[in-house]
Amino acid sequence: MTATRAQCPETRHDRHGPRQPARPAAVTGAAERRADPEHAAGTGRPPQPDELRRVFGAFPTGVTAIAALVDGTPVGLAASSFTTVSLDPPLVSVCVAHTSTTWPLLRDRARIGVSVLGAHQESACRRLAARDGDRFQGLDWRVTPAGAVLIEGAGAWFECGIEQHLRAGDHDIVLLRVHALDADRAVAPLVFHASRFRRLESAAESRSPGDPRPAGDQEST
Ligand SMILES: Cc1cc2nc3c(=O)[nH]c(=O)nc-3n(C[C@H](O)[C@H](O)[C@H](O)COP(=O)(O)O)c2cc1C
Repeated sequence: MTATRAQCPETRHDRHGPRQPARPAAVTGAAERRADPEHAAGTGRPPQPDELRRVFGAFPTGVTAIAALVDGTPVGLAASSFTTVSLDPPLVSVCVAHTSTTWPLLRDRARIGVSVLGAHQESACRRLAARDGDRFQGLDWRVTPAGAVLIEGAGAWFECGIEQHLRAGDHDIVLLRVHALDADRAVAPLVFHASRFRRLESAAESRSPGDPRPAGDQEST
C-alpha cells in the first residue's frame, strides 16, 4: 500500500507543539542540507526540536482518538503516537505530552477508548486536536458501560485500562491493557505523514509501468 496526500490538508499539524516559521526553500533543499553543518551527522551537536519534528514526521502513522467520559462529558484528544505492544498480555501504548491539559482528566479513568480514525474522519481528527471549542460537537460517539468513549465509524477500537506510565523526556509513554477490541477492515485508515493528512492508495492503482509484480504481491499486510 502507498499513501497519497489528502485533497485539502492546508492546515499543517504537529503533535510535538508549535512549529517555528518555515525556513526559506533555499535552505531546506537536500543539497543545502548536506552542505549545512547544522545537518551534518556526527557533529556531536544534539538534534534541535525543529529538526526532530521534521525527521520524526517522516515516519507515517495512523491517528487515534483517546477518550473517556468525565463527569458525564466526553473528553479526549487525537494521538498519532499509538503503537501496538504485546499479544500476551494484550498491550498497546500511546505517548502523551506533558503539556497536555486533557490527559490529566483521562489518566484516572477506569477505561479509556482508543479509536483508529478512518480516512473519512480527517475533520474529526482536527476537532479532537483543537485548542478551542467542544471537541465532540458533531462527532458520532458512543460510551461503553465502563466509561470508554469510542468514535463511531472508526476502523478499529480498543477499550483499555491504564497499566503503567513511563516518563520519557517531555512525554509520558502510557502503557494500556486491552480489555475489548474490534476492527472493521472495510474502513480505510487516516494516515499522518510530514504534518499532513494522507490516505492509502492500493499498490495496484499506483504501480509504476515497469513493476513486474502482480498486484497481490504488493500488499504488505
Ligand atoms: C494528527 C495529530 C496527532 C497528535 N498526536 C498526539 C500524540 O500522539 N500525543 C500528544 O500528546 N498529542 C498529540 N496531538 C495533540 C493533541 O491532539 C492535542 O492537540 C494536544 O494534546 C493539546 O490539547 P490538550 O491540551 O487538550 O491536551 C496530536 C495532534 C494531531 C493533530
